[in-house]
Amino acid sequence: MENNLIQKYDEEFLNIIDEIINNETVQEMKKYRQHYETTCFDHCLAVSYYCFLICKKYNLDYKSAARASMLHDLFLYDWRVKQPGRKGLHAFTHGKIACENACKLFDLNDKEKDMIINHMWPVTLAFPKSVEGLILTFVDKYCAMSETFEVLKSRMFMKKVFKYAYAFLSLLIIRF
Ligand SMILES: [Fe+2]
Ligand SMILES: [Fe+2]
Repeated sequence: MENNLIQKYDEEFLNIIDEIINNETVQEMKKYRQHYETTCFDHCLAVSYYCFLICKKYNLDYKSAARASMLHDLFLYDWRVKQPGRKGLHAFTHGKIACENACKLFDLNDKEKDMIINHMWPVTLAFPKSVEGLILTFVDKYCAMSETFEVLKSRMFMKKVFKYAYAFLSLLIIRF
């Protein structure tokens, strides 16, 4: 997602995460793919925005929700490639890694730290301690699924296009 596309998000949301999205290390998330064509940065931005909207609607702590969600996947490596020296499966460990990375850059409150560490529930057994954290777990899965299905849908559409083009060309060849 290019910077001009960030403009589509509302100003209040952008003000809350401004310090985070303009941080050089956070920007590095643009280098890594999260799901198919979606980068870690774009994934976190979408998750953060939905968490912000939901938490604001229900009078929850939407600031912490937006901040923690923007940082929830700040692990900064390609999870498809085995990392030398990294122990444990990515799904079980990256919440903690993201939180450690985020704490080096920003002053996070306890809720934000817990949201990041436990965002993989129920894959990891530890349950998030806040409602905002629970919302993050669901929004994260929702975004992951839509990012995946979006690509699969377009690939299936392309398959259909090729199938019909092939059938059309075959008919032309038979006729002439
Ligand atoms: Fe994650
Ligand atoms: Fe995520």
